[in-house]
Amino acid sequence: MPERVPTHLAIIMDGNGRWANERGLPRVAGHRAGTENLRRILTACTDYGIKILTIYAFSTENWGRPKAEVRGLMNILEMVIDRELAELHANGVQIRHLGQLEGLTPHLQRKIRHALDLTRHNDRLILNVAFNYGGRDEVVQAVRRIVADGIPAEEIDETLLSYYMYSGGLPDPDLVVRTSGEMRLSNFLIWQAAYAEYYTTPVYWPDFDEEELRKALLHYGQRERRFGLVTQT
Ligand code: IPE
Ligand code: IPE
Ligand code: MG
Repeated sequence: MPERVPTHLAIIMDGNGRWANERGLPRVAGHRAGTENLRRILTACTDYGIKILTIYAFSTENWGRPKAEVRGLMNILEMVIDRELAELHANGVQIRHLGQLEGLTPHLQRKIRHALDLTRHNDRLILNVAFNYGGRDEVVQAVRRIVADGIPAEEIDETLLSYYMYSGGLPDPDLVVRTSGEMRLSNFLIWQAAYAEYYTTPVYWPDFDEEELRKALLHYGQRERRFGLVTQT
């Protein structure tokens, strides 16, 4: 059991396409396997007492993928909401959305809104789903809303800007995990993850099981978080 678990864990769920390729399957099959995996990781996170889990599911850049894959990803989100919402709600999961609803079909937007409304008072675990999310887009949207609200320049500080992010009101991620061996943020939480710890593993997301999560948490438990200060001796 890791000594210290993050309050807020963020995961870049990467490698679904390669996982499928290696098996001679279409990429969408990898995405489906990825959502199956999410179930077990979510359960494990609740068991560890992690309070906030943020998952990167679809980036603003992912619109540039082949049409069939984009459509597949949209269908998968809809299917996951239909299939899992009741159980997530029963388990006390509060679902939040990071990103823009605009750009999604009205039908999918309605489903997402319903999921957010239904689970808004749950407090066992907050699940932030970054879907149609981009970190730069988030900063732009925040600045636009600050201007629209007529906030004077001298009142703008880091706390205010954080509040205007999609994740407004939530603490920053303590640990960012990326699967599939890539070492980049790919436009994920560029504001919030300024002082996060990072962990990467070559394991593809559909294979990232409870044991892999445990390894990531053990690593995190050993890190010394200095936040620019010096070690206390
Ligand atoms: C992550 O898996 C899921 C999304 C980006 C939607 P990928 O689809 O990026 O898988 P790889 O990186 O091509 O293997
Ligand atoms: C990041 O993965 C986005 C998600 C996991 C949803 P990508 O696979 O899209 O990122 P790049 O293209 O490798 O940077
Ligand atoms: Mg990828």
